[in-house]
Amino acid sequence: MFIDSTTIVLDGHPVLREKAKEVNLPLSKENEEILMDMITYVRNSHDEEFCKEYNCRASVGIAAPQIAIGKRMLAVSIVDEENGNVEFALANPKIISNSTQKAYLENGEGCLSVVPDVEGIVPRYAKITVRAYNLLTDQIEDIRLEGYPAVVMQHEIDHLNGILYYDRIDKNNPWAPIDGALVI
Ligand code: NI
Repeated sequence: MFIDSTTIVLDGHPVLREKAKEVNLPLSKENEEILMDMITYVRNSHDEEFCKEYNCRASVGIAAPQIAIGKRMLAVSIVDEENGNVEFALANPKIISNSTQKAYLENGEGCLSVVPDVEGIVPRYAKITVRAYNLLTDQIEDIRLEGYPAVVMQHEIDHLNGILYYDRIDKNNPWAPIDGALVI
């Protein structure tokens, strides 16, 4: 399935509020293809030309519910100077530990399924360890992440639990800084 802006469902679609279901391992051919299509989309979305042609938004991650598939799969592709090349195509990801320190993106978060952006600070953990099957390595891995990649991963895992980033914003004081948090 080729993913473009028309494949991505928007806030209001019930699948975004459902708890996605675990997938069987090893992955079925069908699920493997869906997950590869997801990572391909995120990689493509870094390319301005692709985005012009398919009217997509630059992104760093996507979760299966965003293409109306209620399965616990997500793809992350972060390519920048600070983080290098951080890529995962995960099935059944689970946060198995987290720091007490919080972190947040200074300018708030965005989401392919939430248009327009909702402004405010989204509290996350500064460090997490995620256990998942990673299609890119064909292994079950414990993945330690901190800072920006950790925030992105938490945003995508939230999608698998029916949570959207703005649920976590303090409605009364959206830009209230968090004491001791890592500001990204
Ligand atoms: Ni999102």
